[in-house]
Amino acid sequence: MNSIVSNAVYDDKAVRQFSVMAVVWGVVGMLVGVIIASQLTWPELINGIPWLSYGRLRPLHTNAVIFAFGGCVLMASSFYVVQRTCQVRLFAGKLASFVFWGWQAVIVAAAITLPLGYTTGKEYSELEWPIDILIAVVWVAYAVVFFGTLAIRRVKHIYVANWFFAAFIITVALLHIVNSAEVPAGWMKSYSAYAGVQDAMVQWWYGHNAVGFFLTAGFLGMMYYFIPKQAERPVYSYRLSIVHFWALIFTYMWAGPHHLHYTALPDWTQSLGMVFSLILLAPSWGGMINGVMTLSGAWHKLRDDPVLRFLIVSLSFYGMSTFEGPMMAIKTVNSLSHYTDWTIGHVHSGALGWVGLVSMGTLYYLIPRLFGQKQMYSIKAIEIHFWVCTIGIVLYIAAMWIAGVMQGLMWRAINPDGTLTYTFVESVKATLPFYMVRVAGGVLYLGGMLIMAWNVWKTASTGHVVEVRIPQHA
Ligand code: HEM
Ligand code: HEM
Repeated sequence: MNSIVSNAVYDDKAVRQFSVMAVVWGVVGMLVGVIIASQLTWPELINGIPWLSYGRLRPLHTNAVIFAFGGCVLMASSFYVVQRTCQVRLFAGKLASFVFWGWQAVIVAAAITLPLGYTTGKEYSELEWPIDILIAVVWVAYAVVFFGTLAIRRVKHIYVANWFFAAFIITVALLHIVNSAEVPAGWMKSYSAYAGVQDAMVQWWYGHNAVGFFLTAGFLGMMYYFIPKQAERPVYSYRLSIVHFWALIFTYMWAGPHHLHYTALPDWTQSLGMVFSLILLAPSWGGMINGVMTLSGAWHKLRDDPVLRFLIVSLSFYGMSTFEGPMMAIKTVNSLSHYTDWTIGHVHSGALGWVGLVSMGTLYYLIPRLFGQKQMYSIKAIEIHFWVCTIGIVLYIAAMWIAGVMQGLMWRAINPDGTLTYTFVESVKATLPFYMVRVAGGVLYLGGMLIMAWNVWKTASTGHVVEVRIPQHA
């Protein structure tokens, strides 16, 4: 294809590759989630095989769902959105291919090393230093492609979705490089550059902002593009979206210490983290309202369009988890919730409800367009997927909330003579039925993802790769 023709169409190769792999890694990550949920319910399930033990599979689950599934959706959608909103072809298409293959290499390296037991021990940052370096290189290439495309844009204005993607890309680079500073002690062993409470603070500055920027800002970018597109309505308030952006990114940065309440971290730092977490409710809800209200005057579309339903219901879970988070950041509430399954319930209302559903809605929007189809192969299957996974989420999070509050109350119950009312093992026994409900919820959620994989396969295999022309200005 000569350059005049190629410059007239969008470069969607990496978008297509990332979209398909998001579905594949989604199935893998959720399957591992169901396995570890089963291990917690029936601990003797897989005995004697070290690389299938709970301690090794748990980080495999978190890395697979966050960085493989979430990462692929983020990269697919950001490459798609930045081209459409800037009305240019992707900058450095070959580099975008490198980003795709490099990211898959990171995922495969994680899938091999984590079960083998190689880990830094820092949550969400477990991968050892050679893989950390590969992540940094791929991420810089990703930034070059994204910002390069912004730089050559033919539309003066930078649409708000790109602001969210940009903040996500810059911040994740910063978080990864600072938190991964470590001293190698062999090919697959390193020690953190920080020590003691500083190490903990850097780790949870990283951990919380991984939630704020990896699991939130980029997905808000998706919300600001795909909800208006699917609903065929403009964003409810563009002004609110700008306030939302600046307030959110400023506030998130300070909230990390809520992960370290009642630790050796100076008390004022904990209180600061608590206050910023409470403030964070406002921009979070502002964004949610902006997304939901985009439908005002067109609510009937929710009844007829299952893709829009994925996108809008994801926002209600976003609202739920960003209300719950600030509450859990209050020190007295955290004294009950910390160490319990309440935290796990909170995590999954955000992860399954918000990140999962908005990703699925986005992929259902993208896949037919990337494979030259008018719509997904089966709309009925999207409908079934929606209900199966929503019931799965409700079972999962309700079980964890009840189990969590129960655990917290049992652990602090004291007899009149000052002894503990319950032994720890009694609380474990009381938790068992809730763990069974969680397995059922997880199986439903995974089942929904398998329905999606089938639907994507059918759509792609009966479709063809299309070249989409870039609109030409007068
Ligand atoms: C079929 C769906 C899923 C199931 C059955 C599942 C199950 C689990 C289980 C059993 C744990 C360990 C809990 C513990 O240590 O007590 C866990 C942790 C976690 N999962 Fe999932 N999960 C699923 C999907 C997801 C998705 C889609 C995401 C993210 C997008 C996610 C993110 C996480 C995170 C961040 C943790 C660590 C939580 C913490 O340390 O507090 N999960 N999951
Ligand atoms: C206003 C927004 C939010 C605030 C203030 C907040 C606050 C909190 C608090 C206080 C904890 C418990 C810390 C502990 O006791 O150890 C927590 C844990 C967590 N939250 Fe949130 N949260 C928010 C939104 C979200 C969202 C939207 C997600 C997911 C997409 C999420 C994912 C997580 C994860 C993964 C953890 C577990 C971290 C760990 O210990 O491994 N949060 N959050």
